[in-house]
Amino acid sequence: MANPCEGLKVLIVGAGFAGLTAAIECRRRGAPVLLLEGSSERKQLGDIISFGSNSGRIFQRWPGVEEAFDPICHHSSGLDFYTYDNEFLCRQSWDAEADWGKMFNGHRGEMHEIVWDHALSIGVEIKMGKKVSEYFETDNEAGVIVNGERISADVVLAGDGVRSTARTIVLGFEDKPKSSGYAVYRAWMGTEKLKENPLTAWLANGQDHHAGWLGPDVHFLVAALQNGTACSWVLTHKDEADVEESWSAPGDIEDAVRTVEGWAPIVHTIIRATPPEKLVDWKLVFRDPLPTWVSPKARIALIGDAAHPFLPTSIQGASQAMEDGVTAAVCLELAGKANVPEAIRAYEKIRYGRVLATQKTGVTTRDAWHKADFDYVKKNPESVKLPREKWILDFDAQQHAHDVYAEIVKSLQTPSESKPSL
Ligand SMILES: Cc1cc2nc3c(=O)[nH]c(=O)nc-3n(C[C@H](O)[C@H](O)[C@H](O)COP(=O)(O)OP(=O)(O)OC[C@H]3O[C@@H](n4cnc5c(N)ncnc54)[C@H](O)[C@@H]3O)c2cc1C
Ligand SMILES: *[C@@H]1O[C@H](CO)[C@@H](O)[C@H](O)[C@H]1NC(C)=O
Repeated sequence: MANPCEGLKVLIVGAGFAGLTAAIECRRRGAPVLLLEGSSERKQLGDIISFGSNSGRIFQRWPGVEEAFDPICHHSSGLDFYTYDNEFLCRQSWDAEADWGKMFNGHRGEMHEIVWDHALSIGVEIKMGKKVSEYFETDNEAGVIVNGERISADVVLAGDGVRSTARTIVLGFEDKPKSSGYAVYRAWMGTEKLKENPLTAWLANGQDHHAGWLGPDVHFLVAALQNGTACSWVLTHKDEADVEESWSAPGDIEDAVRTVEGWAPIVHTIIRATPPEKLVDWKLVFRDPLPTWVSPKARIALIGDAAHPFLPTSIQGASQAMEDGVTAAVCLELAGKANVPEAIRAYEKIRYGRVLATQKTGVTTRDAWHKADFDYVKKNPESVKLPREKWILDFDAQQHAHDVYAEIVKSLQTPSESKPSL
């Protein structure tokens, strides 16, 4: 490949998995890439994050990344489901989908650091402490204003997360996040205390484990990993409060225990083994699907959560953010510097319908778990299994973008078809 993106200046906002993937994939194609991140220091934030095989294959194309992930990621062959009162329901084995590729589940901060270092190693320029406040575009360029400085490029990819400010220029109005009606208590911790209690010692036996307990309007998932030294749990429950979403909002242990009153003692034991400073209370933000992810002159595109937040029960938020980054890079490669708006419109059209369909699986699974009739579930234990969709997971975003690009561009030239497919 003779640097198809040579001279195509790419400006990316936000160094989450969407922004980093877009940056790495554009850089691999020869583009000079500048990535602006709002936070001013590198910190290992977050807890467990999941990447399905559709994004696993993206990581595998980045030399050294899979090797760095393997020792820190979760490697169990399935997920065990129980009812809230500890009746074993079934084991969902991942064997059936082994051919679709490799998934990577681990600590968001640890994985993020590895990907960040890879981006630096291939020549992505990353500037921190750059909280972008404004975007602009003309017929020939696009850019941002940050700390009073004007920075321009051929194209801007805005991956500034669920609280995106880039949305305003794309939509023409400010769009506020809503409450999804749910919140998640979550923690990542060492296993010292779990080891001491006979109910939970198995979680620290050196093997990786993944288990879930399901009850009316609440579910609790636990993962043990890193040779029995680390454990992560999430507890999703109804919450109508506010929609502040911050990864550092502290949670209260006894509040968390109250949401699982009457549940199996093991669930209480895991929650109470959590060091109070490790507990996070994360309000799940929801947004209506945007009518478009592209600015009026098609030189600015939203990627990742900025375009489309996912519910955690889809287990696809981070993977779809990465697919966005890859797809945008392929479109820019195929269009070249002279045709940026064509690339950006094609990116949206390639991604829109797939993302919308994938987002819906998050609602389906959440409702299947939370609104279940537990007498029915006990008689039909397999009914709680996650739908593992081949069309989502056995998918190569890079190959797909190459395959459909010409046809998509042709359809964009027919005015009646220029809207993204719903
Ligand atoms: C600190 C943090 C911790 C997280 N922890 C988890 C977790 O434990 N488990 C999980 O499943 N998901 C977690 N997420 C969410 C998850 O990473 C995303 O849902 C998913 O990976 C999609 O990524 P994204 O790149 O679209 O958005 P994000 O990962 O949210 O990244 C957005 C990036 O943009 C930056 N940014 C925002 N506004 C601006 C601005 N104006 N100018 C410049 N930069 C800006 C943010 O600082 C952030 O780095 C976390 C996100 C963050 C930011
Ligand atoms: C777990 O053990 C394996 C095999 O000994 C090792 O390679 C890996 O680095 C360990 N992982 C962690 C997180 O300690």
